[in-house]
Amino acid sequence: MRYAKIMMISLMAFCMVSAVAFAKHHTPEDRGKILFNDAKFAGGSKACNSCHADGKGLENAADKKEFKVAGKTQKSLEEAVNACIVNANKGKAIDAKSDQMKEMVAYIKSLKKGKATKPAAGY
Ligand code: HEC
Repeated sequence: MRYAKIMMISLMAFCMVSAVAFAKHHTPEDRGKILFNDAKFAGGSKACNSCHADGKGLENAADKKEFKVAGKTQKSLEEAVNACIVNANKGKAIDAKSDQMKEMVAYIKSLKKGKATKPAAGY
């Protein structure tokens, strides 16, 4: 009986710790990073990370108002992401308001704080 009680308490403690760990590692920014490293993201064949290693070159993207990807001008970060999805990854543009786009944008914004990478020396 006593043994069962100890087991129960241990199990509960384990569940609580796991729940906290799970929540911590699953912020939109973390999910965006997973997408960034996924070669199949948006139906593409190349991971964003294969060109922008650890987000290199995207440190200023969060603050920019205008982008130039593949010779065209984009007026938002979402459009620039889609331009890379279509032109670089050979995938299909995703909805600018989708969760995946929000997560991708959250990850790109996190690069600004220098969390994931050192400042890039040019592009
Ligand atoms: C084949 C290489 C390649 C891949 C893969 C790629 N990019 Fe890019 N990306 C570039 C290049 C090169 C530029 C610079 C614009 C240009 O020269 O066309 C760029 C520019 C950008 C910019 C604008 C940066 C700025 O500050 O102007 C963003 C944002 C971006 N990419 C995000 C992504 C995301 C998100 C993915 C994955 C979905 C991705 N890229 C995949 C090569 C790539």
